Amino acid sequence: MSCCIYSCSSAPSFSAPSASNGSSRFTFSSSSRSRIHCAFGGTVAEPQVTAAAEPLLLNAVRGKDVERPPVWLMRQAGRYMKSYQIICEKYPSFRERSENVDLVVEISLQPWKVFKPDGVILFSDILTPLSGMNIPFDIVKGRGPVIFNALRTGADVDQVREFIPEDSVPYVGEALTILRKEVDNKAAVLGFVGAPFTLASYVVEGGSSKHFAKIKRLAFSQPKVLHALLQKFATSMAKYIQYQAESGAQAVQIFDSWATELSPVDFEEFSLPYLKQMVDAAKRTHPNLPLILYASGSGGLLERLALTGVDVVSLDWTVDMAEGRRRLGQNIAVQGNVDPGVLFGSKEFITNRIRDTVRKAGRGKHILNLGHGIVVGTPEENVAHFFEVAKGLRY
Ligand code: CP3
Repeated sequence: MSCCIYSCSSAPSFSAPSASNGSSRFTFSSSSRSRIHCAFGGTVAEPQVTAAAEPLLLNAVRGKDVERPPVWLMRQAGRYMKSYQIICEKYPSFRERSENVDLVVEISLQPWKVFKPDGVILFSDILTPLSGMNIPFDIVKGRGPVIFNALRTGADVDQVREFIPEDSVPYVGEALTILRKEVDNKAAVLGFVGAPFTLASYVVEGGSSKHFAKIKRLAFSQPKVLHALLQKFATSMAKYIQYQAESGAQAVQIFDSWATELSPVDFEEFSLPYLKQMVDAAKRTHPNLPLILYASGSGGLLERLALTGVDVVSLDWTVDMAEGRRRLGQNIAVQGNVDPGVLFGSKEFITNRIRDTVRKAGRGKHILNLGHGIVVGTPEENVAHFFEVAKGLRY
């Protein structure tokens, strides 16, 4: 266990009096000095930055004694970055940017080079597998995802092919392998997949949706048709998790962003069993691969999300972190959950909100993140500040 508290100009630090997992007693110290203070007196030289054998993020998820929470941000690669916008001018098609190995690697590494997050997420989309499943789609600027022939009937679902990642998206595997080499365990390389219900919502609605009326019509009038579609997605996405792990992903996040549009009773029928199937399949072949589950607006479903068997539940910002932790218990790790809107606030406000979140999460088994993706227009300097403060924290 480290006795040292690192203080730098804009990164206030805090220390916990006890190493016990889940301790919520912290003492904060804010300092403008740039050196290392030993909690028991004196100062020591700054540590050499060396690549740990295992990335901090993996150690934190596994409940090892870590000195601070690892940090990364959902949608950390993308439109708020000037360097991404420059690539978009040259390659205006999202499909091209996300399906060309060199571009995928370059875009994934953009935030890594600038902010050095503890997780480097693949630049891709949850919809990327769709064309390999015979569901043509595009992501159109200003409009978002567009499914060319929305699925509505049993005959439509019959046309959906099971996904064979190595045939349909070899660029994803290649990009993950390169990223793993580039990042070299200085951070964890993160893969991700969409969850069956969330993917089904796009392909049945035909794109993004406000009221989810079409998928609910299907669920509540022809449930067998929807179940057939969900099963195809569950089998396919389980394979996709395994493929990403074999290609180099060190943890995989499952996005069930819109599962919370379902009542708990419907979540238990149309989402939970399929998530569980995916988790079980991934754990059978990759028992040590951490799985993270995110759902937007998940306060009403937290305990049910944990029933999937994932290692980490990612909380959105409408849940108080301390309450979320209490409800989920100490055996599962938590991720989140700063409001992405906080990044539009003052630097002092951002600092305080980070500290509040980390204190509420308690020591260990916490990945600091936002409660949803970074919003377009977020000032890059505020993102830099977020990472600087987060990486300067010490338990
Ligand atoms: O986190 C990362 O940096 C990795 C990249 C990533 C993207 N999409 C890139 C992207 C991830 C993890 C996703 C996941 C995703 N995609 C989700 C789940 C997360 C969530 O937000 O709940 C969902 C629901 C989608 C579907 C999707 N893709 C939508 C609704 C949109 C349109 C958003 C908009 O504002 O236009 C996309 C497009 C998309 N995927 C963009 C990015 C960076 C924006 C388009 C662009 O950059 O040209």
